[in-house]
Amino acid sequence: MSVRGARVAVLHGVNLDQLGVRDPDHYGSATLTELEVRVRHFAAELGMEPSFDQTNHEGEFCEALHQARVTADALVLNPGAWTHYSWAIRDALEITGLPAVEVHLSKVEEREEWRRVSVIGDLCVGTVSGQGIDGYRAALALLADHLGAG
Ligand code: DQA
Repeated sequence: MSVRGARVAVLHGVNLDQLGVRDPDHYGSATLTELEVRVRHFAAELGMEPSFDQTNHEGEFCEALHQARVTADALVLNPGAWTHYSWAIRDALEITGLPAVEVHLSKVEEREEWRRVSVIGDLCVGTVSGQGIDGYRAALALLADHLGAG
């Protein structure tokens, strides 16, 4: 499909609404609203149409994925801690059948052991971690390549 106009659902999971308050050494000092403004710019540069959602409730995150199946062409996902253990979110992602990139602001592979596990990574076309907000630009670029090649 064409990258121009591609609808990308950017879904933030548990505790991502606390950006700006959470440990800035790992997550930076920007709030989620500030992050989304920057992601909107990144998407505009690539001609993509982003939408945003954040929830602290696992079932709502699953429902956002169910909805994205019909309203989006691709996904950028930062499920927060759910990344490391939520089989329900993994199943919901698989149901979407959409290309997805997993993003983490912090370098999860250099933190605690439990953060090195991702139950969604093998369903994603790529994973970006440790690049802060710029990681979302990298994620959109990966999706643009993927969609453009398809
Ligand atoms: C995170 C990393 C997760 O391990 C953590 O639980 C988060 C944020 C990140 O963006 O670096 O909530 O996904």
